[in-house]
Amino acid sequence: MADFNSDFWHWYIAILTVLSILACVWLLRWMTTGYKKTDTVEDTGHIWDGDLTELNNPLPRWWLGLFYITIAFGGFYLLLYPGLGTFSGMLDWSSRGEYEQEVERVEAEVGPLFARYQQTPIVDLVKDETAFKIGERLFANYCTTCHGSDARGARAYPNLRDGAWIWGGAPEEIKTTIMHGRQAAMPAWEAALGGKGGVDEITQYVLSLSGRATITELVAGGKEKFQVFCVACHGADGTGNKAFGAPNLTDDIWLYGSSITRIGQSIAEGRNGNMPAQGEFLGEAKVHLLAAYIYGLSQGNQ
Ligand code: HEC
Ligand code: HEC
Repeated sequence: MADFNSDFWHWYIAILTVLSILACVWLLRWMTTGYKKTDTVEDTGHIWDGDLTELNNPLPRWWLGLFYITIAFGGFYLLLYPGLGTFSGMLDWSSRGEYEQEVERVEAEVGPLFARYQQTPIVDLVKDETAFKIGERLFANYCTTCHGSDARGARAYPNLRDGAWIWGGAPEEIKTTIMHGRQAAMPAWEAALGGKGGVDEITQYVLSLSGRATITELVAGGKEKFQVFCVACHGADGTGNKAFGAPNLTDDIWLYGSSITRIGQSIAEGRNGNMPAQGEFLGEAKVHLLAAYIYGLSQGNQ
């Protein structure tokens, strides 16, 4: 409970709360004492619509009683539940505690089910409709912010349905990606390539790998540079290397956009895509189901 960094706020809130309640009591008493039981009722002097006179009757007793009951309720509430500064209440209730209990209850309910799925190899899970549905829910909860609700991704977030894998599409590779995350490191090349001219040459060569070169006389020079600077990660034929997360540059599928400008920018400035690790947060059982779901998508499951 002690989220305050000084005692001051505890006392500030507690005293203000108690004073407000006392002020309500005082206000009620002030408004209701002093009435004499007389036969004539004072009027307030306000007259509406010609002959409607506003009288000054005291509040009915039952109404007044309701006010006192709400005040008493407030007092008891503050004794039992957290509300008075950092005082945690006699019942020791907290929303965090309630949330944790709820999570525990759900874990106890679905834990055994998830554990059973975790024993099943991913290739078999793909055929299990319930497992697929659970995977779909998990994906909607945890992955759509980046990969999109249809798993088709967006710029800088890979499409998980297209069968083109950066880090490998075998069941265990997908699981490793989700469990431990992936950090891509494509260095910036502008300086090493001798400036914009070098970048343009190599960009044309990269485009030529998928038949899209527009200035063909630059391709040969680009190829030479590619053999020096790029093959270590992207391979001599440019098809990439999943060990480094270096994408295939020949399939005309682009993580960072397909325009010449975007591709040139990737090369000149570098890229550092990061897939955050989910293992610790979700636990292996859920990751296993997610891996099966994604593998299923790439196998044509809908
Ligand atoms: C150290 C390994 C490494 C080297 C060397 C390297 N790359 Fe990369 N490259 C990567 C990685 C990893 C990615 C993916 C970056 C990401 O996902 O954020 C990448 C991405 C790219 C992309 C973007 C692809 C897309 O789908 O948008 C292009 C284009 C590219 N590299 C071209 C080159 C060229 C040209 C060279 C040589 C000048 C080169 N790379 C050298 C590792 C490397
Ligand atoms: C914060 C954004 C973010 C979230 C959330 C996220 N991812 Fe990713 N994911 C990425 C990025 C970025 C990459 C690509 C990394 C790179 O540049 O190589 C990636 C890559 C992947 C890959 C590898 C794709 C390939 O071609 O090899 C898989 C599989 C994947 N994510 C699955 C998931 C799943 C399942 C979840 C939900 C548990 C998830 N991701 C949540 C950003 C995210």
